[in-house]
Amino acid sequence: MVSGTGSNLAALIAAHEDPAYGARVVAVVADRRGIRALDIAAEAGIPTAVVSVEDFDDRRLWDAAIAETVAVFKPDLVVLAGFMKLLGATFLERFGGRIINTHPALLPAFPGAHGVRDALRYGAKVTGCTVMVVDEGIDTGPILAQAAVTVEPDDDEATLHERIKVVERSLLVEWVGRIARDGLRVEGRHAEAGR
Ligand code: GRF
Repeated sequence: MVSGTGSNLAALIAAHEDPAYGARVVAVVADRRGIRALDIAAEAGIPTAVVSVEDFDDRRLWDAAIAETVAVFKPDLVVLAGFMKLLGATFLERFGGRIINTHPALLPAFPGAHGVRDALRYGAKVTGCTVMVVDEGIDTGPILAQAAVTVEPDDDEATLHERIKVVERSLLVEWVGRIARDGLRVEGRHAEAGR
């Protein structure tokens, strides 16, 4: 599921060409039209769907519709690869425990939509990215993996985010593969690959 430029998606598509990777991107579902991520999917011949909040009278109806849309593709794992909307109860009831997300900060520091900007403004010297299992909170789910990125003195939000994204996409690709091959085990706050 995507909302943006799709660099994480592109990395997943590059990885899935290798059968040994264990996972395939069966579909790409977006919450908005006209984004680069949808072009990347289309260029790779992957089915796409857009379910936009603006097309619904209320947020719960959107949530049910996007859950229904994702279900059409029968995914074993739902990967939020730069998906910028909070999923609701209906979606979580249907796919809970098999949704993973990536966030451009070292959680629990700097959750939310502006993790890079917030770390920079706070004056953090080290930030990074987190791959986690999605729960009902905002970036609160059990953590699967994290990687650190040093904040340079002359960084702005764009330069720092770009360096984080390099690390982030390789971490996401690694963990989607691990989960596909080995399963996903969650016990309380602890998440790991395995059955
Ligand atoms: C990633 O840093 C993701 O964590 C954040 O937005 C970025 C998405 O990038 N929420 P892309 O669309 O995969 O290029």
